Amino acid sequence: MAENDRSSLPIGVFDSGVGGFTVVRALRRKLPSEDIIYLGDTARVPYGTKSPETVIRYSLNNARFLHAAGIKVLVVACNTASAHSIKALRSALDIPVIGVIEPGARAACSATKNGLVGVIGTRGTVESRSYAHHISEISAGKVTTQGLACPLFVPLAEEGWLSGEVPRLTALHYMQALHAILPDMDTLVLGCTHYPLLSAVINEASSEIFGHSVSLIDSGVSSSYVIGEILKDRGLENPDSERKGVLKTCVTDTSHIETVGELFLGEPLGTVERVDV
Ligand code: DGL
Repeated sequence: MAENDRSSLPIGVFDSGVGGFTVVRALRRKLPSEDIIYLGDTARVPYGTKSPETVIRYSLNNARFLHAAGIKVLVVACNTASAHSIKALRSALDIPVIGVIEPGARAACSATKNGLVGVIGTRGTVESRSYAHHISEISAGKVTTQGLACPLFVPLAEEGWLSGEVPRLTALHYMQALHAILPDMDTLVLGCTHYPLLSAVINEASSEIFGHSVSLIDSGVSSSYVIGEILKDRGLENPDSERKGVLKTCVTDTSHIETVGELFLGEPLGTVERVDV
């Protein structure tokens, strides 16, 4: 199929579970007339604690499922999957593949004034040093990064504990640990799908510990801009700009999907289909 015949097809988005709905939320704001097919690998979540080899294997399964469904571009909403699998996905697919790391890294380089950027994410994302690598490349070595895994933010977000004492103390604890390794940080990348839900407590805790406001980078929002540009440049925008895009959700396990999904998406989920990948 010629590339511009694909313009009416949906955007394919996958994540390890429900977290990627934060990226879908940003996409639906930025590109409201686009259809989206979302695949959450809820049966095999989390990816953040798994080896790169396993995450690559799961990512290829997810990508092949979406590609077979008919999509014009593939968005890897999961930071851990983006960190480990982007190369493998780009060689396996004949459509544009966009991860969240490069757009987040670019936004961090534009936001920082003093060249000191913190990156928080899952253990897998932080250990991959993928953000560090891209930030160093984009800034020609001028921006320094330090990464910190913040695994407790994931269950807090999924439980909807977005404010109050427990998230506040957790955020303070992590910001203290970051302060110890990067005391003058002025920019912080929220390098995990779940963290934008906790941006208010992370914002307060970072201001308190660092003594000044810290710019928070939401990689999902940064990615939605990049995806918009790619669709435009390649003539892949949906030809009917007046329409309201439809979201179709597929998951590999349906347990508790409605409540948690809606918390991340910020709107009702609609129909959810259980699939095998
Ligand atoms: N979606 C994952 C990420 O952004 C977080 C949850 C998980 O560990 O799978 O890295």
